[in-house]
Amino acid sequence: MKVAVLGAAGGIGQALSLLLKTQLPAGSELALYDVAPVVPGVAVDLSHIPTAVKVEGFGQEKLADALTGADVVLIPAGVPRKPGMDRSDLFNVNAGIVRALVEAIADNCPKALIGIITNPVNTTVAIAAEVLKAKGVYDKSRLFGVTTLDVIRAETFIGEAMGKNPADVKINVIGGHSGVTILPLLSQVEGLSLSDDEIAAMTKRIQNAGTEVVEAKAGGGSATLSMGQAAARFGLSLIRGLNGEANVVECAYVDGGSEHARFFAQPIRLGKNGVEEILPCGDISAFEQGALDGMLATLKGDITLGEEFVNGK
Ligand code: NAI
Repeated sequence: MKVAVLGAAGGIGQALSLLLKTQLPAGSELALYDVAPVVPGVAVDLSHIPTAVKVEGFGQEKLADALTGADVVLIPAGVPRKPGMDRSDLFNVNAGIVRALVEAIADNCPKALIGIITNPVNTTVAIAAEVLKAKGVYDKSRLFGVTTLDVIRAETFIGEAMGKNPADVKINVIGGHSGVTILPLLSQVEGLSLSDDEIAAMTKRIQNAGTEVVEAKAGGGSATLSMGQAAARFGLSLIRGLNGEANVVECAYVDGGSEHARFFAQPIRLGKNGVEEILPCGDISAFEQGALDGMLATLKGDITLGEEFVNGK
């Protein structure tokens, strides 16, 4: 398997690449691409870690080489938030970056599974889909918005609240990846006994956890280490699915025929072609139904913004 990381020299890119270097199956290849001149150095640095994963760095002019033969492409390229910004403030810069990178994917590895990390994910995934469509290579089973960070945050906070090892907690987070569009289905967690007020507060904490990091970093960016872990978990699940492992399930933001919106984060079973099966979200509480109804206008607006960025109004 060959995995390409685009934006590999950044905060997320370096953490993700380190985890992939140590956790990809033996014999894999890791291609690191970035416009920052440090990227060959990041690759040399990682190459000294003794695992059977071959790492190579690719600078600005070498995007095609980084992508050729890739089975999975993970994209954390772009600018992160600073205090006072929400994810939509990143649109002007990041939309163009994602468009250019996905055009190159269409030209060089059109069958690769693509995981978009670059914010605003609700919109950048729609941009990627429209670019692939325009290039005639769109396969909705192969395009994912990476929302795993919302899942691991929910698992961590709920594990702590229950006095359990967070690694043993499994939570579906549906909707999208910004503010009110992030909806953790806490009512499905067995043994969780929180009052209505506590559920509302916990939901809000999960939705705002990114901002918690942005403020704590005080201008130094947004989540990079937890996001690196989240992206590694998701990328490794994509690989496990490609390798034919059964029952690999993750939540991700996909074009999956949801009744709610064209793109919707939901549990999916991964396989040899990417999305193998869209799984039901399960029963949801009245509180969650209200939150779902309340998010849809925002989510659909975010999606339209991406579609119009590529196709015009
Ligand atoms: P960073 O600034 O540390 O790294 C970004 C990297 O992208 C830099 O190395 C930069 O040189 C590179 N880059 C910029 N334009 C590029 C291009 N055209 N081609 C290749 N590389 C390019 O930022 P960080 O913290 O790693 O965040 C990256 C993105 O991930 C941001 O958009 C951020 O909002 C998003 N993010 C997404 C999360 C999610 O849950 N999906 C969570 C946290 C951040």
